[in-house]
Amino acid sequence: MTRHVLEVVDFTAAEVDEVLQLAERPIDELARPLAGAGAALIFEKPSNRTRHSMEMAVAQLGGHPVYTRGEEVGFDTREPVEDIAKIMAGYHAVIAARVFDHTTLTRLADSVDGFDSADAVVVNMLSDRAHPLQAFADALTMRQRLGELRGKRVAYIGDYNNVSRSLAEISLLSGMSVRVSCPPSFAPSAAELERLATIGDGDVAFVDRPTDAVDGAHAVHTDTWVSMGQEAEKEVRRRMFDGFAVDAALMSQADPGAVFMHCLPAYRGFEVAAEVIDGPQSAVFQQGHNRLHAARGVLAFALGSSGA
Ligand code: CP
Ligand code: NVA
Repeated sequence: MTRHVLEVVDFTAAEVDEVLQLAERPIDELARPLAGAGAALIFEKPSNRTRHSMEMAVAQLGGHPVYTRGEEVGFDTREPVEDIAKIMAGYHAVIAARVFDHTTLTRLADSVDGFDSADAVVVNMLSDRAHPLQAFADALTMRQRLGELRGKRVAYIGDYNNVSRSLAEISLLSGMSVRVSCPPSFAPSAAELERLATIGDGDVAFVDRPTDAVDGAHAVHTDTWVSMGQEAEKEVRRRMFDGFAVDAALMSQADPGAVFMHCLPAYRGFEVAAEVIDGPQSAVFQQGHNRLHAARGVLAFALGSSGA
C-alpha cells in the first residue's frame, strides 16, 4: 500500500523512530529510491524552508524535483484535483503540495490510490490542518538537544494551528507531556484534546496561563500569530495574543536547560522576543536545518528505502 504522508498520525511511534533514524543516517549509506524519478512540489503559498529542504532531499535521494506554483496547475480552477493527480502520478514518484485546504491533499491521495495506471506518494508540505514535515524536524531537533524524549515536557505558546497540532501529535507519540497555552478562543476544542489524549502514551492539556505551560518544560515552542491566509485578521490577532509572547521572563520559568524552538518565519517583538530567539537557548537554526534531514528521512521511509 502506498504510504502517503498527510499527517503525523499516519505514522506509529515505532515508524516515527524509524524516520528519525533515517534522517540521521549519512547520505552515502542511503539507497537512492528516487533514482531516475521525479517529485512534483506544488505550492499554493510561499515557502523558504519547505521548498529548499524538499528540493535538496529529493536530489540527495537521486530524484529530480519540479517546483510548481499553485496557480500554474490550478487545483479545481484550471482542472480537477483528481485529473492533476492522475497525470502527475505518471511523471513523478512523489506529489508533494502546500495547500490552503487539507482536503486537496486527501483528494490527491485518494485519486492516486484509485488509479491503476500509475502510483505516487502524496506528501503534505503544509495545509490548514497539519505540517508533518515540520513536526519530524521538531522531534529530531528535540532529540538532538534533549536526548531521550520520553517523559520530557513540551510547551507550545500560541495559536492551536497546523504547526502545533502536528507538534502535539509527534510529541505524544514520543511519550512527551504536552501543554498548550493561548487565548481560549484559539485553543484546541475539548473534542480535539480528547483525540490527542488517545495518541501515544504522553499526556496533553490546555492551560490559560503561559507560565503554567512552560513550568518545568524542556522545550518551549511558538509560531506566528498570523498564519498564511489570515493576513486580514492580523491586527485583531496581535491584540488578542498580547501577553502570550515568549520572552526571557517566560523562558526563566522553564527547565534551566530548556530549548526555544520556532518553525519560522518569526516575528520578533510579537510571538517571540529577540533576546530569546537570538539568545543561547534558541535552537531555531538547527531546527530549520533539520528540515532537510527530516524531509530526506520521511521520503526514504515513504519510498520504502531503509538500507543501502
Ligand atoms: N517552517 C516552514 O514551513 O517554513 P517555510 O514556510 O519557509 O517553508
Ligand atoms: N502556521 C504557519 C506556519 C508557517 C510555516 C502558517 O500556516 O502560515
